[in-house]
Amino acid sequence: MLDHSQLTFDEILQNIWASLREGADRGTHPFHTPVLASAFGQGPDARTVVLQQADEQRRELICHTDIRSPKVSGFRQNPRAAWLFYDRQAKVQLRLLGTVSIHHDDEVAAARWAKSSPSSRRCYHAAHAPGLVLAGDEIRAAELDQGFDNFAVISSAVFAIDWLFLQATGHLRARFEWDGGHWQGVWIAP
Ligand SMILES: Cc1cc2nc3c(=O)[nH]c(=O)nc-3n(C[C@H](O)[C@H](O)[C@H](O)COP(=O)(O)O)c2cc1C
Repeated sequence: MLDHSQLTFDEILQNIWASLREGADRGTHPFHTPVLASAFGQGPDARTVVLQQADEQRRELICHTDIRSPKVSGFRQNPRAAWLFYDRQAKVQLRLLGTVSIHHDDEVAAARWAKSSPSSRRCYHAAHAPGLVLAGDEIRAAELDQGFDNFAVISSAVFAIDWLFLQATGHLRARFEWDGGHWQGVWIAP
């Protein structure tokens, strides 16, 4: 296991983005299914999503969703998002803050739709909007032909990262804030 106390801020950041990339790429990685939290309407809310992409250069996290889901209109009201990741084996928690942009029926959505598998695409064929109250006979809803019409990409530009590493000899915690050109790191009390 890495001795995190010897790591520089740059090395911690590299480690963070490498783990996020691995989480996006590998379905069994604990970072594959983060919690994406929002604050709008009646207050805070949180849901599990699949991390589809993590791009260090663009400071971007991406997940897919149904354009009809309540979080889309919510993020349009308040684009601030919090992402929560926990890797039990690595003993690392990540909390990232970002600003969300929604892509729907544009080049970004088309490119990600083209890459997605038939089984992933099926999620977007449901005739009923996510969150709609269903009558008993509608639980197995009819499917639409045009999944792409419902498909949306939630892209989040990360501006703050809180890294917590648990260890018996004393937990370590660092916070990184994007200053417009660089990540500024500080150690903080865990
Ligand atoms: C393992 C897992 C992965 C999920 N992945 C996604 C996802 O990538 N995108 C998504 O919109 N919902 C995903 N969901 C469903 C959400 O957690 C949530 O129930 C749904 O998006 C409705 O959320 P909303 O009412 O906040 O819009 C996933 C749920 C689980 C349990």
